[in-house]
Formats: sequence, C-alpha cells, structure tokens
Amino acid sequence: MGKVRVDLNISLDGYATTTDQTPEDPIGQDWNRLTATYVGTRTFRERVLGQTGKGTTGLDNDYAAEYFENVGAEVMGAGMFGLHDHPNDPDWQGWWGDTPPFGFPVYVLTHEDRPTLKMEGGTTFHFVQSSIEDALERAKEDAGDLDVRVGGGVSLVRSYLAAGLVDRLHVAVVPILLGRGQNLWADLREFERGYKVTTEAAPSGVVHVTFAR
Ligand SMILES: NC(=O)c1ccc[n+]([C@@H]2O[C@H](COP(=O)([O-])OP(=O)(O)OC[C@H]3O[C@@H](n4cnc5c(N)ncnc54)[C@H](OP(=O)(O)O)[C@@H]3O)[C@@H](O)[C@H]2O)c1
Repeated sequence: MGKVRVDLNISLDGYATTTDQTPEDPIGQDWNRLTATYVGTRTFRERVLGQTGKGTTGLDNDYAAEYFENVGAEVMGAGMFGLHDHPNDPDWQGWWGDTPPFGFPVYVLTHEDRPTLKMEGGTTFHFVQSSIEDALERAKEDAGDLDVRVGGGVSLVRSYLAAGLVDRLHVAVVPILLGRGQNLWADLREFERGYKVTTEAAPSGVVHVTFAR
C-alpha cells in the first residue's frame, strides 16, 4: 500500500502563504521569493514548464524529483484549484493549462457543485463534497500501490496533518521571513511525535526537513 505524502515550501517563520498580492501583481513578489529555488530546479522546469536541460541539479532538484515520483492520485482543496479566485466559473479548469502535470485522478474538495473534468495527459479532476477521510479513501483506491499526495493548499494540508493522516511530510524551509499569512505549524504542537525527522541543508540555503513514519 502506498503512503500519504505532502510537500510544501515554507518560510523560515513557518508561513506557507503570501499576503502581498495586488490587482497589478496578482502573484506578488513574496510568492516568487518563497518558490524561487523550487521553480529553478531542472525537475520543475521539465515537468511543469516543459523546458528540457534547464534548471539546477543537486539536493533541491532531488527533492523536487521525489515530489513527482511514485504518485498515483492527489487530493487538493478548492483554494489550490483556484475556485476561490474563480467562483462559479464553468470555464475555469485550474491553473495548469490543457495538460496539467499530474497524469492521474485528482480529488478537489469543494462545496461548489462541478462536473468531473477530464484533461489531456491522464489528469481527471473530480470535485467532491465529502470528509477529508472519504476523499483520501477514494484517492487511495485509485492509487493502488502508489502514493497519494495531498497537494495543497495550506488549509487542507493542515486538516490532514491535524487528523494524523499523513505518512510523510517534506517541507523546504526557505530562508526568508514572511511575518504573516497562514502558518503551517499553528496549533500543531508536538506534531513531530511519531515521526522520524531528518534534515538536509542545500547550498541554496533551503533546509529540507522530512517527517516520516
Ligand atoms: N507553500 C506551498 O508550497 C503551497 C502549496 C500549495 C498552495 N499554497 C497556498 O495555499 C493557498 C491555497 O490554499 P487555501 O488554504 O486557501 O485553500 P485550500 O486548502 O486549497 O482549500 C480549502 C477549501 O477547500 C474546500 N474544502 C476543504 N475541506 C472540504 C470538505 N471536507 N468538503 C468540501 N470542501 C472542502 C473549502 O472551500 P469551499 O467551501 O469554498 O469549496 C475550503 O475553503 C494559496 O495561498 C497557495 O499559494 C502554498
């Protein structure tokens, strides 16, 4: 049976979301600062941007590659899929274009009623109103022996962490201070109990912390 996995980029002070978006700059500079190392890896360039032979190799890239390996299904929240930015828009198909970089079933937890969306490249988005446990069970059935990834966003990840349903959490701790936003660790006192915690520092300054059962 596969594992339930999470990977996130967080700031040194634990924030996983940014707060400097404006109508002129809808992504914001802080998001670029938070994700620059990951986005710069060879794996991200190839798997998400379709660029070959570009990007960094080394430890940051090793973790980026692991993110894509051995995954058979994903669970994500309405915010991550973009439904909070594009509410009740039947044409919205997520941020990832016609061929999203999943290639497997993705269960999107949302209270919005939407039909299943079959995309190019093997990704199917199922929109489900159920408990986080039920959504995970459906994803596990689809994944078979492969892992299930809880992709994000931060609220949904925190629900799965708090419920004790995650087997492996990898955080790339980026050496920047955000000072505000959604903190990954809030109210997760002693989360580390029951996990083996390992740490590797990359030359980029990013520290990769893994909690594994
Ligand atoms: N740092 C990183 O690596 C990283 C990675 C991914 C995302 N993010 C950040 O995460 C943020 C997006 O996450 P978010 O916390 O706003 O939203 P989210 O976790 O993607 O989604 C939460 C939403 O999912 C729906 N939902 C959750 N549980 C449900 C249930 N049991 N049944 C039905 N619907 C349910 C609800 O939306 P409705 O009620 O509206 O349907 C809820 O508001 C963004 O800021 C993004 O940048 C960060």
